[in-house]
Amino acid sequence: MVPISADRIEDLPALRGLFDFPVAACGCAIPLTGARHHPAEAVLVAGAAERRRDEFLAGRACARSCLDALGYGDAPVLRGERGMPIWPQGAIGSISHSGTIAMAVVAANVTARSIGIDVEQRRAVTDELQDLLFRTEERERLALLPQDERRAAATLMFSAKEAFYKAQFPIGRAFVDYREVAVETSESGFAVTTCIDIEGLGRSGTRFDGRWFAADGHVVTAIAL
Ligand SMILES: CC(C)(COP(=O)(O)OP(=O)(O)OC[C@H]1O[C@@H](n2cnc3c(N)ncnc32)[C@H](O)[C@@H]1OP(=O)(O)O)[C@@H](O)C(=O)NCCC(=O)NCCS
Repeated sequence: MVPISADRIEDLPALRGLFDFPVAACGCAIPLTGARHHPAEAVLVAGAAERRRDEFLAGRACARSCLDALGYGDAPVLRGERGMPIWPQGAIGSISHSGTIAMAVVAANVTARSIGIDVEQRRAVTDELQDLLFRTEERERLALLPQDERRAAATLMFSAKEAFYKAQFPIGRAFVDYREVAVETSESGFAVTTCIDIEGLGRSGTRFDGRWFAADGHVVTAIAL
């Protein structure tokens, strides 16, 4: 699944397959050497460190490739409130990067209110991070697993929360902490249940379902709201 080419953007069928409506999904390696970056995007990271510039521009190049595939032309994806990407009128989307790879997904806004994706290295979440990221009941479930499995399971849960955060933010503009949602995972899906009321998404206890896959040392999560 994972884009390995440093000089071109690839279609990502496995990422597209996480949605049950049509989306464009693209990925690439970071840095993306062959890209023509949009000047209006490049200016947003002009003063940033090289690593940050590379991941931002790779994600944006993927996003614009998705937009192009769906007929939205070559408009820049600017940056809005709290880091939220600003999509052209009629489009929704999400961007993620993880060290060496970047990806983006875009759909028409008639298919869902918002979408979120996240990619992480498969065992990125160590035991030390658990108190920050998980609720008591989530930590209790993780504690039952052998250490190697625990890190992969924790990373999947973390990634699901990040994908949910990116999808929910454009709707209610709310900062939602990691422990304000609870995640349960299954073989290829996950459920996020809110533990607080979230503007535009309903009362505490509302459940949203997403999907995931793992490949090439990474886990990828996606959710549509
Ligand atoms: C914003 C956040 C989710 C990004 O996740 P990350 O794993 O650090 O980084 P990723 O590479 O996967 O994603 C970064 C991209 O997310 C997107 N993003 C950032 N803020 C966003 C927001 N408020 N709304 C929607 N998308 C956002 C951006 O496109 C960003 O890439 P860019 O800056 O190059 O454009 C994370 O840093 C964060 O602040 N989390 C705290 C809140 C949270 O996750 N709560 C979980 C429970 S709901």
